[in-house]
Parts: sequence; C-alpha cells; structure tokens
Amino acid sequence: MVLYFLPACTFTKAGCPKPNKTNPIEPVYPISTNGELFPWAQLRLPQSIKPLSYDLTLNPDLDKMTFTGRTVINMSILHSTNRIVFHGANLSITKATFMASDVTVLEYKPRQQLAVNFSEELKAGQYCVLTMEYSANFSNTYDGFYNSSYIDKDGNKRVLAATQFEPLSARKAFPCFDEPAFKATFLIKISRKKTYMTLSNMPKAKSTNLSNGLVQDEFEKTSVNMSTYLVAFIVANFTSITKNVSGTQVSVYSVPEKIGHTEYALTITSKLLEFYNNFFDINYPLKKLDLVAIPDFLAGAMENWGLITFRETTLLVGNESSLLEKQVVASVIAHELAHQWFGNLVTMRWWNDLWLNEGFATYMEYMSLQEVSLPNYSALDKDALSSSHAVSTDVNTTEQVEEMFDSVSYEKGASILLMLNASFPGDQQFRKGIIEYLKQFSGLNTDTDDLWNSLTQTDKPTHHMNVSQMMTSWTSQKGFPLVTVNLMGNQVTLTQEHFLLTSDNTTHTLWNIPVTYVNDSCSLAPECRQVFTLKNKSDTFKLSKNVTWLKLNYKSTGFYIVDYGKDGWSALTEALSKNVSVLTHEDRASLIHNIFALSRLGRVTFRQVLNLQKYFSLETETSPVMEALLQLNNIYRQLEKRQESNLASQVHKLNTNQTWDKEENVSKQELRSALLEMACSLNDENCTHQATSLFKKYKDSNGTIRIPGDLQQTVFTVAGQSDETWDTLFNMYVHATYDSEKRKMLKGLASTQNPQRLVQILSSGLRGSLIQTQELPLIISTMCQSFAGCLFAWDFIQENWDRLIEKFPIGSFAIQTIIKSVTSQSSTQAQLNKVQAFFSGLKERGSQMRSVQEALETIKLNRDWMDRNLPTLRRWL
Ligand code: BES
Ligand code: ZN
Repeated sequence: MVLYFLPACTFTKAGCPKPNKTNPIEPVYPISTNGELFPWAQLRLPQSIKPLSYDLTLNPDLDKMTFTGRTVINMSILHSTNRIVFHGANLSITKATFMASDVTVLEYKPRQQLAVNFSEELKAGQYCVLTMEYSANFSNTYDGFYNSSYIDKDGNKRVLAATQFEPLSARKAFPCFDEPAFKATFLIKISRKKTYMTLSNMPKAKSTNLSNGLVQDEFEKTSVNMSTYLVAFIVANFTSITKNVSGTQVSVYSVPEKIGHTEYALTITSKLLEFYNNFFDINYPLKKLDLVAIPDFLAGAMENWGLITFRETTLLVGNESSLLEKQVVASVIAHELAHQWFGNLVTMRWWNDLWLNEGFATYMEYMSLQEVSLPNYSALDKDALSSSHAVSTDVNTTEQVEEMFDSVSYEKGASILLMLNASFPGDQQFRKGIIEYLKQFSGLNTDTDDLWNSLTQTDKPTHHMNVSQMMTSWTSQKGFPLVTVNLMGNQVTLTQEHFLLTSDNTTHTLWNIPVTYVNDSCSLAPECRQVFTLKNKSDTFKLSKNVTWLKLNYKSTGFYIVDYGKDGWSALTEALSKNVSVLTHEDRASLIHNIFALSRLGRVTFRQVLNLQKYFSLETETSPVMEALLQLNNIYRQLEKRQESNLASQVHKLNTNQTWDKEENVSKQELRSALLEMACSLNDENCTHQATSLFKKYKDSNGTIRIPGDLQQTVFTVAGQSDETWDTLFNMYVHATYDSEKRKMLKGLASTQNPQRLVQILSSGLRGSLIQTQELPLIISTMCQSFAGCLFAWDFIQENWDRLIEKFPIGSFAIQTIIKSVTSQSSTQAQLNKVQAFFSGLKERGSQMRSVQEALETIKLNRDWMDRNLPTLRRWL
C-alpha cells in the first residue's frame, strides 16, 4: 500500500520500482510538441494527483462535424509535485487556467499525454482546479466522440453523435486522467439544436435556452465515482419506450422507425435488473438506465454506466426474428447489465486484470440465463498455443491494452469462474463470496488477488479448499492442464501436464485442478458427480467399487482436457454406441472436442478420432453435432485451401439430412440452420432448390412474405452465390432496414466467388458508403470460408493495411478477427512464408501483435497435422 502511493510508481504487477537511494534513476524525458521537455516518461500516469470531479461542457456541431468543450477538473494533491500529467488526444487546447492564472499545456503525442509544469511545488493535501477550453473534430473512427449518419424512412440523411470510450478514448473527447483507477464524479452539459435530444449517464436535470438559439441540457452530477471509460453522451433523434423497475426508470432507445423492435429488450432488461438486484444483494445505484441502439457501432455493446450502447443487431428484435437472435439479445443485455456491478461499481485497477470485468460479465450471461450454452471451446483452443497469455498479464503499451479484449479474458475468465463455482460443495458459497467482494470494494478498484481473497474468506467455515492457491494457478500462468486417466478396476491414477501444442521453454507450476468425474453406474444426475482435487503431478485414489468407464469433467465445467488412454476411449465409445444417453449432451460434446484436440497434439491418431464415429452416427443432440461439424469443417476448409477438393467434399458429406419444417426449440433451430447451410453449400440439390424458391417468393412479395429468421442465412447465402440473384440481393441489402437481416444478406453477398463482386464489397466496406466499415471483419471472415474469397481478402488486407488500422486500432478485437479469419485455415509452408513476410514487414504497424504470433503458430500446427494425417484422410475417404 505504501509503495502504491510513491509518486513515480505505476500500478503494474511488475511492480513499483524499488526506491534506490544511492543511485536514483533519472528518467529520460521526451520533447513535447511545443519543444519543451515533457515532464513524464511513462505510459502510466503519476500517482501524485487524484482527480475528484469533472465539470464538462460540450458544444457539438453536427453540421460541421466539430465540437468545442470546456473541462474543469477539481483535484487533490496526494504527494507534493510540480507537474500535472494527464491525457488528451487530438484536442486543440485554446485556453488553460490553473487557479485563475493562465498556464501552458504541454503535449506528448506518442503517449497521448498532456502536462502542466509549475515552478513552485503543489503541496500534498492541497485541492486545486484546472480549467481547459478546447476544440476538436469528431472522431472518424468508432471511438471517442464520433459522428454517424443513417437514412431515415423518408430517405433523408440523419446525423447523430455518440461516444465509445473504452478502453483509451475518453481522452479524445475531453482532457482527463484516463486510467480506470482514477475514479471521479462527472457533471455534464451539452448544447444542441432544438430538433435534437441528448442522453448521458445521469438523468437530465434541466434545459436552458442559450442566446445563440441552441438549448443546453444539463445532467445531474453522477451520484457515484466512476472511471473515465464509462462516461458517455449521445446527441441524436431517438425515440424510446420506458418502464419503472424497482425504482429505476428503464428505457430502450432506437431511431424512430425501429421503435417497434424495442419491446423484447425492455422486457428482458426488466427481468434481468430484478434478478441482479437480488443476486448481488446490491441495488443498481442510479435512478435511470437507458439502452440505446446506435446505427454505427463497432463493438457488440458497451456498458457505460446508466447509458448502455448497442449495435442495432444486439438490441433490436422483431416478431420475425429467430429464437437464436432473441437469445443473442438476451445474452448481450445480461452481459452489459452484469457490468453495472462487475466493472462499474467495482473496477479492475489496471487493464492487466480486464478479465475481472469481462470474464465475470461473460460468466453472468450463463448464470442469469440458464438456457444459454457454456463458454465455448475457443478459449481452450487459443490457450493451447505457446503464444497465449495468462488471464492476468502485464500490459505496458496501448496495443497491449487493446489486445486484452480476447477469448482469454472473456471465455477463459468465465470458464475458471464456472469451474470454481462448480467445485464448491454448496451452490450459495460462490454467490456469498462475490457479494462480499462487491460490498467490500464498492466504488473502488481491485486486482485478481482481491477477488480470490474474498472468495477464500467465504470458504473459511468449511475449509473446503484454499481458493486463493487454487485460482492463482489458473490466473497467473498461461495454458491449462491435460489430465490423463488410468483406470484399473477401482484404482484411478490421474496425471497432469501442460497441454501445449507447440512446446516452448516456459516453466509452469502445477495446476490445482478440481477434477470431477462420473462412472458407468451413475453418470447423468448432478448427484453422480464426484470431485478429486489434483494438486500434484500425479495422484492415485480408489473408487468404492470397480467400474468399466469413467467420464471426467462432468458437464464440461472444468478448464482442462482429458485423455482416457486407448482403453478408456474405447470403453467410452463402446458405451455410447450402445446408448448415447449414458452421458449428458455436454459430456458428449466435450468428448468430441477433447479427441480432436488430442489429435492436434499428436496424442491420438486420426484413426482413433474416427473410432468415435461409431457412436456419432447415433447422435441427434445440438451441442455434440455442432461441435463435430465445427471440427470437421475446420479440416474441410484447410483441405479446400490446399486445393484437395475431392477430399474436401467427402468430409463435407458426413452430415445428415435436415427438414425445412418449423422447429420450436432454439437449440434445434440452431442445429437445423447449421445443417441446412452445410447441405446447401455442398450443392445438395434439394437444399438449393428450396432456398432458391424461398428467395424468389420473398422477392416477388416485395418483402411482405418473410423468410423465417433461422432460414434466412441459408437462403441469402444461396442467393449470393448465384450470378442471377446477386444483384437483387445487393439491392435488397441497400434498402433493408433491420440490421440483423442486413448482416445475413451481407454474408450472402460475401459468399460469392465472383472476383469483381468480391472486390466491390471489400472496397465499398472500406469506403463505408453502401456498406458500413464496421462490417469489414464480418465480410472478411465470410469470404475466408472459400478458397477464392480468401485469396481476395488476403490481397485486400495487404494492400489496405494502413487504412484498416486507421479504422480499427492495432490489437483491437476487429483486427484480431481479421487476422484470424484470413490465416487460420492455412496449412502449407508456402502460405506460412507469405503470412510471415507480410506481418514482419509491418514493423511498428502491427508486427508485434499477439494475433500475429498466434496466426503463425496455428499455420505451423496445421501444416504438421496435415503432414501426419493426410495419408489416413485419403484412405478413409
Ligand atoms: N466492455 C465491452 C465493450 C468493449 C469491447 C469495449 C472491446 C472496448 C473494446 C462490452 O462489455 C463487451 O464485452 N461487449 C461485447 C459483447 C458481449 C455480449 C460479449 C462485444 O462488444 O463484442
Ligand atoms: Zn463486457
């Protein structure tokens, strides 16, 4: 705690520099923009000054696309200092005063920092006020204070402005201490034309007519201390529906023509708000909660306190939307609402612990909406690479901050919480622990240890396990264990090792694994589940009687992979071929995932993988079928990209026939659409015929006959692949209103093999004219499903890299998606060389990204797998 307040100390795990009295290290200060020395040389701000409150006045001009602002920061001096260092990016400061005298603001652009130097020390304990006036352009990316436009139903262009600050962009809208630990209160005023409305985190307090004909809206001062990345404001022309839920006014906003699609979101939000108020035993602290669908929005949604922003697809659904689309909306709302506690009330101290926000919010999606499926296996796949990172990992550059938004923070974070919850004997212990944690740290910042300590406290009475010790083994090192089982009668031996696809020299400590298992005599009900905590490299224990098989990782709630050995796998396959229902569908899906993973590791041959097929022909449940499709599809795509088209189409034929009749259940709908999409993509005549005729009916009816939501993708993809219907579909796309339908049409359009059209889509997406730039990652990932499409996408990325990183920050989720889409199905040395050559040539424009390391490692692994298994594949098919 003492170190933490040292003036030059940063919060990083690597720690505060140890004071070295004999030989103080003089930092090398950089030169600021105006030529003077800039008084700070680190990414993290000094800890000598703490902002207490901000007074923000913003005057956006939606015609000129500029804004002016005035920021008053009240602060407290914690340690005597002669400088104030804070953040600002692309702001022209026109006037700055400190306690009524004019001061000069220095800028160091590479770190987006501003500073004021003082000849006399500001003394610890003092309070002071810094006021700045500035002007800026609206951001032309999707972060900061950005503008956006859309065409309304009468064909008029409408303009709006909105904010997206997480992680590092509040500084683009106002000068501030832009790190999550600098919490303060905010009082916000925005001027607007009479025809617009404004929204911000807090309810509006009053509106005043200004002399220039504009109106100034003033919002209540925030009743809570909050981090800058959670501040938000919007100037637009939205309409809303609203409802009071336990004292909170909940509203859903959209552009006027889509207000009919907001009902579902309002209903779900009301239910979830009550659920969370009760679950966390802390009421949502603000008087209002707005959820807003924004026509131009890059992320899926953003949890700004009291003003959650969404893409249109993740908030708006209509009657014709599929059950799956509704489920997506419910999950996204569940996630962002969970952040109002996890993230907003209690915030990670620094981005190295982003998982405390994102892992928790992701976990709460599953917790609050019981029917949503488990965190997927994407985190295991990524975390098996040597280029992966620990859940809680050092973050020292802005790119590294962006890169924290990945499946390790989200899915692995959620998975280890799920595993912890599942390993407590009672079902309330985990909940009690997090309530404690939230209450203890309400309004404050934390790190991973704080969470584990709170959870250890609640476990004290039973001394069931040492939570801190166990969980640190999962958060402080990358990767996860492979657990090997050896069963001899009633004697079980478990062994752990690091599941690492590419061996490297990093050492790891043993994991503390709550291994769960069921056996042949009791395998379905939760009561069947037994737990053994594997802390050593290897342990042996006895079962109460002999069993013929064991299934570990009951319902796949643990973050590890299991190898049952040759006999163990055979016994399981045997049992399942007699009766698939001896295991839950989650357990069956995890067996499929695990055996493919072991094949990638080289532990089992592809022949052994195929043995599991014996059971697989009997499988009808969604999650195992989807898992198998995903795995086979991955092999298929790789074969296709090696131009092994014969083999490729064989792999593709493995799936079963599906009907076009109505399905009532969400998981069946999901399965049906996946299988139909596959059948049509294989040119199954019945499938393409049905799809083509549905498309024709839809077109001829002028949109009055609707295609059921879960069939839309298949229909639009078939239409997009045909030269006759592509233009019609493009025309429909341009005129379609609803975002979710539009995105499906766009995926259809991007499935074409026609070179001119591929180029047309990509360049239109880059211009952001008929296709919004936010859709480029979707376009590229769709194109990369086919050989020709991916070649064009790859050329496009290379040629337009600089424009891409202008729109999407280096390391951001969008860039991660683009890199992964275009590389993950490559498996030849030639492809590897090309990818390597391009990315290494980027230097500081992205060569250091983790996703580049991941891409290279993945291609090498694909190459090695193909070398090993291509002969078997040829024989098998
Ligand atoms: N806090 C994030 C939004 C975000 C993502 C900000 C990346 C900055 C960079 C938000 O809570 C989130 O996680 N959104 C997800 C959707 C969610 C339902 C998984 C997203 O945007 O994809
Ligand atoms: Zn989130």
